[in-house]
Amino acid sequence: MWQLLLQMFLLVLVSAGMQAADPPKAVVFLEPSWDRVLRDDSVTLKCQGDYSPGNTSTEWFHNGSLISSQNSRYFIAAARVEDSGEYRCQTSLSMLSDPVQLEVHNGWLVLQAPRWVFQQGEPIHLRCHSWKNTPVHSVTYLQNGKGRRFFHQNSDYHIPTATPDHNGSYFCRGLVGKKNVSSETMNIIVQGSTSPSVSPSFPPWHQIAFCLVMVLLFAVDTGLYFSLQRNLRSSPRDWKDHKFKWSKDPQDK
Ligand SMILES: *[C@@H]1O[C@H](CO)[C@@H](O)[C@H](O)[C@H]1NC(C)=O
Ligand SMILES: *[C@@H]1O[C@H](CO)[C@@H](O)[C@H](O)[C@H]1NC(C)=O
Ligand SMILES: *[C@@H]1O[C@H](CO)[C@@H](O)[C@H](O)[C@H]1NC(C)=O
Ligand SMILES: *[C@@H]1O[C@H](CO)[C@@H](O)[C@H](O)[C@H]1NC(C)=O
Repeated sequence: MWQLLLQMFLLVLVSAGMQAADPPKAVVFLEPSWDRVLRDDSVTLKCQGDYSPGNTSTEWFHNGSLISSQNSRYFIAAARVEDSGEYRCQTSLSMLSDPVQLEVHNGWLVLQAPRWVFQQGEPIHLRCHSWKNTPVHSVTYLQNGKGRRFFHQNSDYHIPTATPDHNGSYFCRGLVGKKNVSSETMNIIVQGSTSPSVSPSFPPWHQIAFCLVMVLLFAVDTGLYFSLQRNLRSSPRDWKDHKFKWSKDPQDK
């Protein structure tokens, strides 16, 4: 029984140690933070990760293929549609990052936001970006097909506190010269604090392991405590009796 407990304990310790030995993942950041841009926009992808003193080169992957840039910043001066896709990076002391998606669109307008999923109460910042920042006027932001905000001159649309009413599909439109142009539609998801769409996340396994260790230690401690108490309570005579019995044992055989 004790051996089993000890073995489980050691197993947990060893796997926890292996977990801690894994270097952290690198992280890709977009600068500016828009994940949807128009052709000819400039985009910088930044890799955040640790470097060993002897190796400060960064590996960049686009759609899973290694690209030539070895700088911590991958600069795209004028985006092309082919620059779309998923980007990952890695440094000498980091694991391969999670992917970051970039979409490069052909068109006059693109609706931009720092992200597309918000919690209730957070601010939402929308931008109706035009190709090469061409002036656009009479700009309307629409939600679920209805005009929500109108600007004579192109301006960003700020929603100070998101509510479930702000959930829905959005696009913007306006006039470039006399041309009536629209962006593609994007869904904005506002997650309510009581929303059932937020699935309960399971605690990470190392937390389970930690709890298991605590329970084991508690059980071991309690066991030790009671057996110690029992031994202290037993009178010297009991001890003699034990000795007497034990010394008699060989004769029983
Ligand atoms: C990368 O993947 C995206 C989306 O699948 C695609 O639009 C793009 O053309 C691809 N680019 C390259 C260079 O593979
Ligand atoms: C430098 O680190 C990269 C990972 O970012 C790795 O692929 C490469 O082999 C390393 N170069 C040397 C010389 O160790
Ligand atoms: C939020 O909007 C998205 C996209 O329009 C839609 O699919 C979803 O059902 C909406 N959720 C709620 C709770 O209204
Ligand atoms: C552009 O076209 C839409 C219909 O497609 C119309 O409702 C709108 O008034 C037009 N003008 C502007 C400035 O958006």
